[in-house]
Amino acid sequence: MPATNTTARYGSVAKTFHWLTALGILTVIPLGIIATDMPYDTADQLADKAWLFSLHKTIGVTLFFVALARIAWAMTQPKPAPLHPDRKIETLLAEIVHWLLYGSLVLVPLSGWVHHAATEGFAPIWWPLGQNLPLVPESLRVAETAAGLHLVFERVLVISLILHIAGAIKHAVIDRDQTLARMLPGRTVQTPDASARHTGLVPPVLAAVVWAAAIGIGSMLGVYHQGGAMAAQAPALAEVDSEWQVTDGTLGITVRQMGSEVSGSFADWTADIRFDETVTDGPAGSVDVEIAITSLTLGSVTQQAMGPDYFASGEFPTARFSAEIKASAEGYIADGTLTLRGTEHPVSLPFDLSLDGNLAQMQGSTVLDRRSFGIGDSMTDDGQLGFEVSVTVVLSALRSVAPST
Ligand code: HEM
Ligand code: HEM
Repeated sequence: MPATNTTARYGSVAKTFHWLTALGILTVIPLGIIATDMPYDTADQLADKAWLFSLHKTIGVTLFFVALARIAWAMTQPKPAPLHPDRKIETLLAEIVHWLLYGSLVLVPLSGWVHHAATEGFAPIWWPLGQNLPLVPESLRVAETAAGLHLVFERVLVISLILHIAGAIKHAVIDRDQTLARMLPGRTVQTPDASARHTGLVPPVLAAVVWAAAIGIGSMLGVYHQGGAMAAQAPALAEVDSEWQVTDGTLGITVRQMGSEVSGSFADWTADIRFDETVTDGPAGSVDVEIAITSLTLGSVTQQAMGPDYFASGEFPTARFSAEIKASAEGYIADGTLTLRGTEHPVSLPFDLSLDGNLAQMQGSTVLDRRSFGIGDSMTDDGQLGFEVSVTVVLSALRSVAPST
C-alpha cells in the first residue's frame, strides 16, 4: 500500500495515524471519566484513582505528540476529495468535524497538561518529562482555568466524535459507498478523483466559532472556577487576646506524594503568644496556636486531605499547639503538645527571632511523623505518601501596648 495520499485515496501513513489516534482517544476518554468519578474515601481508593489518572495523563501526553506528527504529515499531503461534493451541507459538516477533531487532538491534551503542571502533586505523568511546563506557574487560578478548558474541549471532542462516527456508519450502511472502506487498513481503495473540491477557509473558521461558543458556554456554567469552596467552609476561629498580635504569617506544610513534594498552608489560625525577650536562658513565655483544619489548601489534594483517613476534618475541625517558649544560648524553642485529629503528641519547634522595638519576626520549622497522629494509616508505603511532614511557621507579631491609665 502506498505511504502517501492522493486526492483519490488515503496512504498507509495517514491510515496508521488515524486508527492509532482513534484507539488512543477511545481509551483515554473512558479513563478520564472513570478516574474523575471514582470515589477516594479510603487510601486504597485514592491510590487506584491516582493510578488511573496517571495512565490517563501518560497516554494523553503521548497522543499529543502523535497528533503533532499527524498534523505535520497531513500538511504535506493532499486530502482525498469528498465522495459526494454535490451534497454541500453534508460535505461542509464533515469538514468542520475533521477540523474540530484535529484541533481537539491538540487542545484537549494541552489543556489537561497545563492543568497538571499548574497543580502540585497527585497523579504524576509516567514519562520522565512534563511534570512542569515552561511558562505555566503553579497557581490555583491557572489550574482551575485549564481544568475548565479541558472539560469544555473534551466535550467538543466527544460531540464531534459522535457526529464523525455516525457519519462513517451512515456512509457504510445507508449510502453504501466507499467512505469507510477507503480509510480501513490493509487495502487501497481508489475513489473518483473529484479534483479535490474542498470548501476552503469556511470549515476552519466555523470550527473556531464552535470552540469560541463552547468556551462561552463553559464560562456561563462557571466551569473555570471550581475550587476555593473549601476555604470558605472553614469555621471562623475566635479572635484571641494575645500579648503579641500576629499581623502577618504563614503556617505551611509539605508532604511527599508519589515522589513529588506537595506544599500547602492553613489560611485560618490564631496564636496567643506571651513572651519576655529579656529572658536569655530558661522559660521565656508560652504560645497557644489554634488551627482551622478545613482552611488548608494542599495543591490538588486539598479535598482528599480532609477525608476520614487523613485529617478527618468533619470530626476534628481544629488542631491545637500549646507550648512553652524556652530560651537558651542556641536560640529559642517552642516545646509542647500538638493535638491533631484527636491525638496528642509532643512537638518541638526551634525558631529564629528578630526583635525591632515592638515588632517581632519569627521563623521556625520542624518535621512530624504523620503516623503519630493516625493520618493516612492505611498508606503504609513511605514512597506513596511520605511519613515525614515538614511544618514551617513564619510570622510577624506586634506587641500590644497596654493603654496608659
Ligand atoms: C471508531 C471511530 C472512527 C471511525 C469509524 C472513523 C472513520 C473515519 C472515516 C471513514 C474517515 C474518512 C472520511 C473521508 O474520507 O471523507 C475518517 C477521517 C478522519 N477521521 Fe476518523 N474515525 C474514527 C475515529 C476518529 C478519531 C478518534 C479521530 C480524532 C480524534 C478521527 C479523526 C479523523 C480525521 C481528522 C479525519 C480526516 C482525514 C485525515 O486527515 O486523517 N477519527 N474517519
Ligand atoms: C487526548 C487526550 C485527552 C482526552 C481525550 C482527555 C479526556 C478527559 C475526560 C473525558 C475527562 C473527564 C472529564 C469529566 O467528564 O469530568 C478528563 C479529565 C481529566 N484529564 Fe484528561 N484527557 C486527555 C489528556 C489529558 C492529559 C494529557 C492530562 C494531563 C497531563 C489530562 C488530565 C486530566 C485531569 C487532571 C482530569 C480531571 C479534571 C478535573 O477533575 O477537573 N488529560 N480528561
